[in-house]
Amino acid sequence: MEILVTGGAGFIGSHLCEKLLNAHHDVTALDNLSTGKYANVAHLKGDKKFNLVVGSILDKKLIDKLCEKTDVIFHLAAAVGVELIVKEPLESLTTNIKGSEIVLDMARRYNKKVLITSTSEIYGKNTSGPLKEEDDRILGSPLKSRWSYSTAKAVDEMLAYVYWKEKGLPTIIVRLFNTVGPRQTGSYGMVIPRFVAQALKNEPLTVYGDGAQSRCFLHVQDAVGALVKLMERPQGAVGGVFNVGSQEEVTIKDLAEKIIQLTHSSSQIVYIPYDKAYEEGFEDMQRRVPDIGKIQRLIGYEPTVSLEGILKSVITYFKGRNSE
Ligand SMILES: NC(=O)c1ccc[n+]([C@@H]2O[C@H](COP(=O)([O-])OP(=O)(O)OC[C@H]3O[C@@H](n4cnc5c(N)ncnc54)[C@H](O)[C@@H]3O)[C@@H](O)[C@H]2O)c1
Repeated sequence: MEILVTGGAGFIGSHLCEKLLNAHHDVTALDNLSTGKYANVAHLKGDKKFNLVVGSILDKKLIDKLCEKTDVIFHLAAAVGVELIVKEPLESLTTNIKGSEIVLDMARRYNKKVLITSTSEIYGKNTSGPLKEEDDRILGSPLKSRWSYSTAKAVDEMLAYVYWKEKGLPTIIVRLFNTVGPRQTGSYGMVIPRFVAQALKNEPLTVYGDGAQSRCFLHVQDAVGALVKLMERPQGAVGGVFNVGSQEEVTIKDLAEKIIQLTHSSSQIVYIPYDKAYEEGFEDMQRRVPDIGKIQRLIGYEPTVSLEGILKSVITYFKGRNSE
């Protein structure tokens, strides 16, 4: 099959390209290399079935051409990460809303199946236990740029859903919860790579807020496995929305301590108030745990890598980079 992966030189996109190539598909990765990197896919360059196109999802003509020749589309390209969105709200909104609209519109022109990656940020401040796909979104003011990522991704979801309902375009929506693994960078506010880099340099680990907030982290291999299985599913996935995440919950303070222990670091933990780390009035969610019953029932999804396994894989990756 001929497959288009937007954001294919990004963290998750590059792992997805690898998995699809291993399954003998022809893969085109489209990426503007903003947060993605050529280095993430450099090892795929020798594969005749792989093609990297450097360009933007905002380029309608290019997307038209790529959609015409592909069989299915994984749409991952986006402005990602709270830090980036707070820093560049306008560009992020344009990429995430207009870009997705262009991809869906061109996919519709040639009736190509599209899977879009949304986010657990959709649920906003709803911390009411394991979150089900139909649960409420609870958000702060739209004037707080922190919520623009959630809002833009909600628009993407609505667009994907109405393209399916009204136009019959086969679309699948995946809400990824915190996904981690090799190649993720800490430069845009991603907590595990940031902590690991700090610990390996014996620098203080900077916990934002009081560290009592909890998250569940999923290994990238478990995430891309779910994306591929949903796309392959002949029935039950199209027109649906699915949480993809782990249920192994950890507070950010405990995470920092675990990373210090696993790296044998002499780092201390320092606490930085949210308004210093991000912006005045920044709001975070205290807890974010997915209910994964829906995808478990459909494809038998089960995360396979524990938090400790995830941390060890990120530490090994960073140590390898440091010795390059
Ligand atoms: N990593 C996570 O924990 C997580 C959680 C929830 C959702 N997601 C979603 O998964 C997807 C992939 O995220 P990621 O973590 O790999 O981040 P990433 O930043 O590594 O990937 C995004 C990719 O999109 C590319 N991109 C940005 N703007 C573009 C444009 N205009 N045209 C073409 N390419 C463009 C970037 O260069 C990058 O390679 C995103 O849609 C993100 O919202 C990720």
